[in-house]
Amino acid sequence: MSKNCTQKVSLALLALALSVGTAKAETSIWGADLPVPAIPGYTFPESESTLLGWVNGNSAADMANVYLHGWGLWTALNTPSGQSVYGIANAPVYLTWVTRQELVAMAQLGSAAKLKSVGPRKLRMGEVTQLSKFGIHSMQAKPKLKAAKAGAPSPDFDTMETVTYDPVSGHTIQDRGYFKLSTIKAVYDAKQPEIEAFPVNSVVVKPVYKVITKDKLYQNRYYVMAAWPGTPDVTPAIQANGFPEQSWNAGCVYVDTQNSGTSQASGVDASCSGPTAASTYGLGDFVNFKLNAENAALFDLGNKQKLVAGDTLLLMAMHVSSREMTEWTWQTFFWTPNPKAPPLPSSTAIAAAMPSQLTGPAAHYAGSFAYSMVTPNQPINGGQSVGQPVVGYNPYLESGFPASTFGITRPIVDGANSWTGTVGVQTNCMTCHALAAVAFTSTANPTYGTDFYIGRDDPYFNGTVQTEFLWSIADVVATQQSKANKAKSK
Ligand code: HEC
Repeated sequence: MSKNCTQKVSLALLALALSVGTAKAETSIWGADLPVPAIPGYTFPESESTLLGWVNGNSAADMANVYLHGWGLWTALNTPSGQSVYGIANAPVYLTWVTRQELVAMAQLGSAAKLKSVGPRKLRMGEVTQLSKFGIHSMQAKPKLKAAKAGAPSPDFDTMETVTYDPVSGHTIQDRGYFKLSTIKAVYDAKQPEIEAFPVNSVVVKPVYKVITKDKLYQNRYYVMAAWPGTPDVTPAIQANGFPEQSWNAGCVYVDTQNSGTSQASGVDASCSGPTAASTYGLGDFVNFKLNAENAALFDLGNKQKLVAGDTLLLMAMHVSSREMTEWTWQTFFWTPNPKAPPLPSSTAIAAAMPSQLTGPAAHYAGSFAYSMVTPNQPINGGQSVGQPVVGYNPYLESGFPASTFGITRPIVDGANSWTGTVGVQTNCMTCHALAAVAFTSTANPTYGTDFYIGRDDPYFNGTVQTEFLWSIADVVATQQSKANKAKSK
């Protein structure tokens, strides 16, 4: 080949590579692979034996390793992906991932290609579905706290959630047909207690946002939210009503929508009387997405409200789970005014484990962990609900659960003492997710639990198929089941 010709060919190849590159950057429904940031001590996927070594060891140093692992995942999730999604250039990795709604649609349409042909990707956010499942609707009119003085700031209590799956877990659900009743029924018919394990590098997240719209602003400028007071003592009122944002009663935090950068603030306004320098944050203190005229229509709140240019999503919280362990790893993150001294269920020990590689707005969050159901840790099967509770939850997700949310409670026994969690601020991710299952007999009754030990071979699972700790599979399939049953009874 002549030199000239070779050049032409390589130019053509380059052009092809570029066009493929751009097409991929903008249209992959699966999103970006989870990167592995260079953080000393952080490996992904970490081996189960290393993780269990820390969990079983349970010393301060072991727990610091657990926390570092969670912070490593958090750093990876917030890394700029180089991909555009929903009109957001270089979106953080987690935002590019396939959503629960997209996987549901794909399961019906048959393929990602068919879904792509329906139109551009949209981010459909919904009220916290964990709650709505039990008849609690976060978008319903909220009881006002005390009648706020006329003209006084009043916090916005609404939050919206999504669920997204990394390319590995997303493909696993789509390729194995796990969002289809027929697949799970076939597992039941084959007398298998559970669906097959997900690949170890599967990661699933549940991000939670506050949506700033013009009509919500105080003095046309400040967005007002309630400050999280830390884990409360459980009172009869909390048993009855949970501990949702409306009842936090610990003051206000302000976000100055005219400051797209960061602030020096690290406090709250205890009396909710108005923004001060110590309690007013910039948008840049949050992972945030400001919408513009081109992409506002790609964000769908699932109600009548349309978002417009200038509206902003603030990332308030995120649940994060990975399949590195048989019982998955469980960590959650929530925005906090002073990330060095976060309130319970986070701690200064968790904050101290934050690696220096985690910088920018993602470093303004607190973490909470549940890598075991109880401590000392018990074996996967054949253990006992003994020792100390391990409480791990998110103020923006579980704290609103009253006692009536939980269909099963069991004590954790410690010698002569016994502890029984009854409400959302006493939950453990791993316990509740262990219960995720689809019922195929009338006596089986998948439900929620707070914190206790439960093995995979527990009689609770009789007549069910366990869905690998993923409640979304159980939810999606149970919804198809009840539709099918209604159709039958007509
Ligand atoms: C009381 C039960 C309960 C507790 C406690 C709980 N979750 Fe969930 N979780 C659910 C349900 C139900 C869903 C599915 C519905 C939805 O999308 O909200 C879910 C969804 C999720 C998802 C999306 C993937 C999936 O299919 O399960 C992740 C990730 C997740 N939770 C992580 C966590 C973490 C981390 C914690 C602890 C900090 C936690 N959860 C505590 C019930 C619970």
